[in-house]
Amino acid sequence: MDLYQEAKEIIIKAGEQVLERNGIEEIKEKGKADYVTAVDFQVQQLIFKKLLELDDSIQFLGEEKDNEEIDFHKNIWILDPVDGTTNLIHDFQHSVISLAYYEQGKVQFGIVYNPFSKELFEAKLGEGAYRNGEKIKVSQNENLSECLIGMGTAPTYRQNADTNFKRMRNVYDGCQDIRRIGSAALELCYVACGRLDGFFEENLKIWDYAAGKLLVQEAGGQVEILENKVIASNPAIMEAFKKIVME
Ligand code: IPD
Ligand code: CA
Ligand code: CA
Repeated sequence: MDLYQEAKEIIIKAGEQVLERNGIEEIKEKGKADYVTAVDFQVQQLIFKKLLELDDSIQFLGEEKDNEEIDFHKNIWILDPVDGTTNLIHDFQHSVISLAYYEQGKVQFGIVYNPFSKELFEAKLGEGAYRNGEKIKVSQNENLSECLIGMGTAPTYRQNADTNFKRMRNVYDGCQDIRRIGSAALELCYVACGRLDGFFEENLKIWDYAAGKLLVQEAGGQVEILENKVIASNPAIMEAFKKIVME
């Protein structure tokens, strides 16, 4: 059995539930601007059940469950059943399922699926990154002034908004323009395929970036996680970009 292929099929199938949005009106605010809907739970439950059938010895870390018992010395599935829940609530059509497989202290493969665009981003450690089967690479822009940068708003950390928006302003002043898509996992995939030259967000969780980080790296980009800040970009602009966001 090929865990990778099987996992991919499970994710694509689960994408149908994201599109159906059954139960989208059942919304709970877990914390400030931190939402979960019945769709998030259904998608997680479906994927959990299927992955368990594949191999019940692999631990399961999912956003919508208690992960206290997870042992990082052992194998783990890391799932964000819906990355971009606020987008899904508004039918903004930019929400993805993000799944990573972690073994021996490293993410071995990552899959990010956007059921709206039917784009599947995938990467295996050491084997490159792909979008719908085609190899992808990060952009080649060398100057920040010619770069399009994704900047997350860290919506649940409103207390940091002044600092974050000041940082955004600084990035905006140095680059061509900024974007805020609303799914960190997808934004990392956009860095991987060169649609964005860089991406930054503070206080993300492992399920937001586990798969996307590997995608960027396998597409020739760099990802640094410093003081709980995720900084991703093509290698040429990393130093200049990092300098601004870490100011
Ligand atoms: C959120 C999205 C969003 C980011 C938030 C995340 P969720 O994940 O990735 O873009 O700004 O920080 O929490 O809650 O939609 O899974
Ligand atoms: Ca998320
Ligand atoms: Ca989520």
